Amino acid sequence: MLKARQAKTIANTGNRGKPFGLAHVAIIMDGNRRWADLKGLPRLLGHKEGVKTLKELVRYVGSNGLQYLTVYAFSSENWNRTAQEVSYLMELFAAVVAEELEELNDSGVRLRFFGQLSTMPGNLQESFRNATERTKHNEGLSLSVAINYGSRLEITEAIRSIGQDVAEGNLSLDKIDETVVSAHLYTKDIPDPDLIIRTGGEMRLSNYLLWQAAYAELYVTPVLWPDFSCGEFEKAMVNYAARDRRYGGD
Ligand code: IPE
Ligand code: IPE
Ligand code: MG
Repeated sequence: MLKARQAKTIANTGNRGKPFGLAHVAIIMDGNRRWADLKGLPRLLGHKEGVKTLKELVRYVGSNGLQYLTVYAFSSENWNRTAQEVSYLMELFAAVVAEELEELNDSGVRLRFFGQLSTMPGNLQESFRNATERTKHNEGLSLSVAINYGSRLEITEAIRSIGQDVAEGNLSLDKIDETVVSAHLYTKDIPDPDLIIRTGGEMRLSNYLLWQAAYAELYVTPVLWPDFSCGEFEKAMVNYAARDRRYGGD
């Protein structure tokens, strides 16, 4: 796609455009446990393998100049899994941030976390705050991790916060419009996704970016997340390029 030197410059300097013809890709990284089952491995190892996939993809899209990548790492419903799986995942998240932060920072990635962070383990909250602060001036890929994220929860919190603004006399009812709602979501600083990719084949959004997905294109692949290579990402881009986004118009 791009020459190596050009890609490196883009990775660090924020020389971002629309290399794939879009600005923002959001991904539902699904199928980790099925991948492990198919390989005859302990199920939770699938999550570890999924991290490798994400690392490679971040490097690839970052060096190609993508502006925004948002990934679903843990939903507000995923607490319903066994205590063993939940604590495995929490430890994995902590380890990944600790191990990857320097390299991400060096390559100009701006890291953010979307979700109800206040109910996450204290050490994670601290590491997310630190990573966000450390990388906030970076101009490379903007990587957002949806963690303890639920779209209905996000919208509910937005409604509560807008209601409070009204009650305190800082906002009048007739000023509430779509822009105001968007400005109260976790995603307030970034554009809506152009494309939502779901791996693992399920044809649903699972409480992901419901408001923001209003006009997103959807791409579902049966490929399980640990097998989602950069080549698979390219296939999604080719598929997207053939779409006709009409936004309700002609
Ligand atoms: C996605 O993979 C990762 C998380 C939800 C944390 P799954 O764990 O849902 O794996 P499958 O879909 O059961 O195979
Ligand atoms: C969605 O996957 C959440 C993440 C990928 C983090 P799930 O595996 O939780 O979704 P469902 O249960 O199949 O809808
Ligand atoms: Mg799943």
